[in-house]
Amino acid sequence: MITASSSPNSAWIKYWGNRNDPLRIPMADSFSMSLDGPNVEIDIDHSPELIVHSFNPDGTEKILGEKHVARFGKTLDNVKTYLTKLGAPDAIPASCNITVRSNIPSAVGIASSSAVFSCLAKAIQGLIAETYELTETQTSVIGRIGSGSAGRSVHGGFVALVAGEGEEIDSAYGKQFADENHWTLHDIIVVPTMIEKKIGSTEGHPTAHSSPHYSDRVDAIMNRRQKECIDAVLAKDFEKLTYVCEEDVLDMHMVMQTSTPALHYLTNDTHRITDGIIELRTSEHLPVFYTMDAGPTVQLICTDESVDRVREFAYAQEGCKVFEAKTGAGAKIIKELATVA
Ligand code: PMV
Repeated sequence: MITASSSPNSAWIKYWGNRNDPLRIPMADSFSMSLDGPNVEIDIDHSPELIVHSFNPDGTEKILGEKHVARFGKTLDNVKTYLTKLGAPDAIPASCNITVRSNIPSAVGIASSSAVFSCLAKAIQGLIAETYELTETQTSVIGRIGSGSAGRSVHGGFVALVAGEGEEIDSAYGKQFADENHWTLHDIIVVPTMIEKKIGSTEGHPTAHSSPHYSDRVDAIMNRRQKECIDAVLAKDFEKLTYVCEEDVLDMHMVMQTSTPALHYLTNDTHRITDGIIELRTSEHLPVFYTMDAGPTVQLICTDESVDRVREFAYAQEGCKVFEAKTGAGAKIIKELATVA
């Protein structure tokens, strides 16, 4: 049995929409910073049939709905297809017994699926190591098969999901541009509501193409925005990073809101928080920018220099919960837990 651990990432150039929905092959590149917490641990072992157990942060068992278990089953089927392509069809002979222990409060608005499926990918890498040695890039493909954003969290630091070309299962993969030691940035996560969103990203991605603004979004990312974001990170140019990341998040939500059905994830609380942080950074010249995924939660990305002030702002937001994370190392195998039953 192998145990792996992983955490979510903060998406700065957002992944939204696929060219192949079942295989989660994205239309455009995306980019994120891997976080150092909260973490998920997964135990995995070979098993004659698929068994999935999941435990909440308080240790109680989370009863998984059919849809959730089916997602693991579908992911494993696609992973087997991929392993067959790699010439290792028997690396997972039958199925797997999977135990997920999540320290991520559900509906926090940071993609827990990116942590769970990057963790699963890393655990699979360890499980099959004697039969086939997966590279980090191949492991990121396995993460992406479970959840597109998980293709990034397999790596630490600053990571792209490269969209690639064609319909091959491994045509899109995670690529690290700088590791977690390159630049320490903080993610102060302001959560206005703990109520779970109605339409998750798996159901949301297929709607992207119906927005009249979607093809412009894909063009902007592929021709300019992704490169601007990577260049800003490599140069540690926070001002440039602020500009491109805020441009991209507003663009993604514009696409979501003009899709059929329209997806309105942002709330009055979201706007109050983003307006407030813009006011604060303007008056105090603070390095901080905002970003939101498929929900009302606002992530405030800031530097060592501004983190105390941003933290103060975050905790002053009425009715909100606050979580804190910073640049992290990506998914890893926890060797010392490898024999825990
Ligand atoms: O990986 P998924 O299918 O949960 O999609 C993630 C979508 C966003 O969180 C909105 C953006 C992103 O790049 O993480």
